[in-house]
Amino acid sequence: MTDHLTVVDHPLVQHKLTLMRDKGTSTAGFRRLLREITQLLAYEITREMPLTTTTIETPMEEMEAPILAGKKLALVSILRAGNGMLDGVLELIPSARVGFVGLYRDEETLEPVQYYFKAPEGLKDRLVIAVDPMLATGNSSAAAVDLLKEAGANNIRFLCLLASPEGVARMKEAHPDVPIVTASLDREINAKGYILPGLGDAGDRMFGTK
Ligand code: URA
Repeated sequence: MTDHLTVVDHPLVQHKLTLMRDKGTSTAGFRRLLREITQLLAYEITREMPLTTTTIETPMEEMEAPILAGKKLALVSILRAGNGMLDGVLELIPSARVGFVGLYRDEETLEPVQYYFKAPEGLKDRLVIAVDPMLATGNSSAAAVDLLKEAGANNIRFLCLLASPEGVARMKEAHPDVPIVTASLDREINAKGYILPGLGDAGDRMFGTK
């Protein structure tokens, strides 16, 4: 994957995203759509996973058949909204290892502060996919990727549902080596850091907390 940003313009992705943006969509519907879109985005972000071969016997004859190479992928959820994207990826790649990064924003410094970090072992030998539905200011995403790199990860991809131009620029500046895959590059963020036109607070919409 050579491009820093990939916008997946598949009609199914775009159709489901419209349903998710609609404020009339229920919590249950939002969660289901997020899982479905995530599967389609995950298909794209894993496109270049390396393959090797293994010898199998079909009912007809022996063959050298392709199989994923290397250590199991590490999927890392950026809490809390990232959790809504775990199931979609895990349905495609059930053997993936799963980690979590929790960050909050210090009200005085406005800098992200870590409150939780748990990652699978051997990150340096794994493809790491960090998931967070909303790449808005990019501050927490860049900080989460900092933590993953400190833990040894060197092959990281970032999977989100919506990205803002500001968030993409922030990630490109901080982590030009981390490709981003998203369903849409939206127009801008507002003064409160919400994406426009966006879909509101992804965590609240998937967990029904508002
Ligand atoms: N996080 C959200 O949940 N929504 C936004 O619009 C921006 C960040």
